[in-house]
Amino acid sequence: MKNHNNNHQFNIDKFYKSYLNGPRIFKNRDALDSWYIPKELPHRDSQIKNIAEKTACALLGDTPPSFLCYGMTGTGKTATIRYVSQKLAQQTSEIKPWWIYINCNVVSTPYRILAHIYNTISRQEKIPPTGLPKDIIFKNLLGLLDSKIGNSICFLVLDEIDILVNKKGGNEILYDLTRLNENLDKCKTCLIGISNKLKFRENLDPRIISSLGEEHIVFPSYDASELRDILNDRAKIAFNEGVLKEEVIPLCAAFAAKENGDARKALQLLRKAGELVERVQNKIVTSKHVEKAQEELENDHIMEYIKGIPLQSKLVLASIYLISKFSPEHVIISGDIYDVHSEIRGLIPGIRQLTKRRISDYINELALAGIISADVKSMGHYGRTKIIKFDISMELIEKALLDSDKTKGIMNHKPVFLQANKVKLKNNIFKKLI
Ligand SMILES: Nc1ncnc2c1ncn2[C@@H]1O[C@H](COP(=O)(O)OP(=O)(O)OP(=O)(O)O)[C@@H](O)[C@H]1O
Ligand SMILES: [Mg+2]
Repeated sequence: MKNHNNNHQFNIDKFYKSYLNGPRIFKNRDALDSWYIPKELPHRDSQIKNIAEKTACALLGDTPPSFLCYGMTGTGKTATIRYVSQKLAQQTSEIKPWWIYINCNVVSTPYRILAHIYNTISRQEKIPPTGLPKDIIFKNLLGLLDSKIGNSICFLVLDEIDILVNKKGGNEILYDLTRLNENLDKCKTCLIGISNKLKFRENLDPRIISSLGEEHIVFPSYDASELRDILNDRAKIAFNEGVLKEEVIPLCAAFAAKENGDARKALQLLRKAGELVERVQNKIVTSKHVEKAQEELENDHIMEYIKGIPLQSKLVLASIYLISKFSPEHVIISGDIYDVHSEIRGLIPGIRQLTKRRISDYINELALAGIISADVKSMGHYGRTKIIKFDISMELIEKALLDSDKTKGIMNHKPVFLQANKVKLKNNIFKKLI
């Protein structure tokens, strides 16, 4: 029971004490959180203006047009809508519009969306999480909208609307929501859809496009200089003065600009860099910390990705791992992976043998995700062959595969063709050819 050895035990009281006495990096860490709405949103002026113009008539009790917001991830769509909704709510007008925000990734079924709208307006859990027929909820909802919201406007924001569209019954509920106004006496609703899947409109019912999709607002990705402006504003609120070396923000911006100009990524990097410095109780954040933060975030991302892939794909990955582990010099070709996959899948109950073709599909998917590279090389009279290599560290692959119950038991299996040290003759030729 080595964990009980007092010399090695983590001293939590001491840790907290030294944390509290250590240097203060953050003034307001929350300002780097994705839910924080800053006072200004740099480089989103035209979108804010457009949405403000569309929604202003709600202050007079008139119905704004429904519309969609599009843009890649981290381009400020959610932040902009929340910003405008706050501003609209702060206006001193007789008519106070309502805003109901629904993230379709969280409130994920048509039923729950209706229940969520109802319960948010009624401020009580009146609609149970399952069970009522849809038309009853609809009738109740219409009654509630008229009685509680009266002559005002109710904005219904459907964030990540693409997820809803791809769900069973998603199109129908959207259609019903676009038609609410026809059945309301006093209240009027306005739908705002947000999506980072630019192509999701292809799955929309044409009737919905005509009432929702014709007007849309595009959120272009940020470039590095725009990201710098965003980060500078946030850093002033989040960090104590003098904590960030001047190269830090440009570097975070540059990393995030490479990843499609994702402001969320830029903010995460900055926060993580600060936390790394805090962890070692240093006083200054430098480019080294940003690089480390980038590496850690990337690793987290890869771990998540590997955890999420199907078991067969994990076994393909494990096959490559096992060959590299037991024979680092071996030139891996698809046929080797096929052999090892057949061996290890036999060690796990209920796992099917895959065809060479399916193995090749999995290899391509892993290559597309940047986990491995699979380059086609010409091997003289052996023809053209795919040579497979890891693009990320073996430790990371090992960590991810050991983390899964199904794969952890096979991580020490030595591939049969390596067991008798009878490395295929062909491989030596390949080694010379590449
Ligand atoms: N122009 C901006 N100014 C300040 N902060 C911004 C700006 N744009 C985005 N952000 C910040 O970046 C983060 C991500 O933005 P947001 O959540 O709005 O992205 P999104 O477009 O909704 O992405 P997704 O499609 O992934 O939901 C948030 O923390 C947000 O506050
Ligand atoms: Mg969003």
